[in-house]
Amino acid sequence: MGVLSDTDREKRDETADGQFYDSPRYVTHASEAFCERLTRLYADVFEPDDIVLDAMGSWVSHFPDTRLERCIGHGLNDAELASNDRYDEWWVRDLNQDRTLPIADATCDVVCCALSVQYLQYPEAVFAEFNRILDDEGSIVVSFTNRLFPTKAINAWRTASMDERADLVASYLRAGDMTVSDRVTDHTMTDPFYAVIGHAGPGSSG
Ligand SMILES: C[S@@+](CC[C@H](N)C(=O)[O-])C[C@H]1O[C@@H](n2cnc3c(N)ncnc32)[C@H](O)[C@@H]1O
Repeated sequence: MGVLSDTDREKRDETADGQFYDSPRYVTHASEAFCERLTRLYADVFEPDDIVLDAMGSWVSHFPDTRLERCIGHGLNDAELASNDRYDEWWVRDLNQDRTLPIADATCDVVCCALSVQYLQYPEAVFAEFNRILDDEGSIVVSFTNRLFPTKAINAWRTASMDERADLVASYLRAGDMTVSDRVTDHTMTDPFYAVIGHAGPGSSG
């Protein structure tokens, strides 16, 4: 099911995303308060010995101390991913060029996607992949704030209000056959905190 039009998917900078992320950025993309709030949310979702995919990741994942069986990282910059001390393994893939994930069906208990969903041009296909790799009781946490690289975010995101962005993310989950179970918003910090939480749906392979 497509939720975006061709115009919605356009970016101001249509050069390959890999070029934009060619040099590592060892920064955080939201305030400390935002990152701490995200860590608390993950602590509520993660169970000991979970297998977690951190999609569109970097050198830091904002994870709690929960002992995980395995953490799989993904992103666009090899050096950033290599320096993330939570990853047991990782791979680089531009999801706007190849919308598949090299992970077996029903492998993961949780998929995390932090501060990055605005860069996906084909979120319906990518979220269907998230659903495929989730166990049938698996969860997904997509978090975002109002910060972004404006030339790289899709039109639909740039022109939307924050609440419309939450609606957009919820529509991505549904397009991927997942269910939306909760939305968390917190405006008490400099970077407003938004997260959409969902569960694997009928299309899940688990
Ligand atoms: C603002 S950073 C957020 C990184 C990390 N999740 C965090 O919380 O700090 C955006 C990330 O999105 C990922 N990204 C952007 N465009 C992408 C694409 N086309 N395919 C795959 N990943 C992409 C990059 O890995 C980049 O590190």
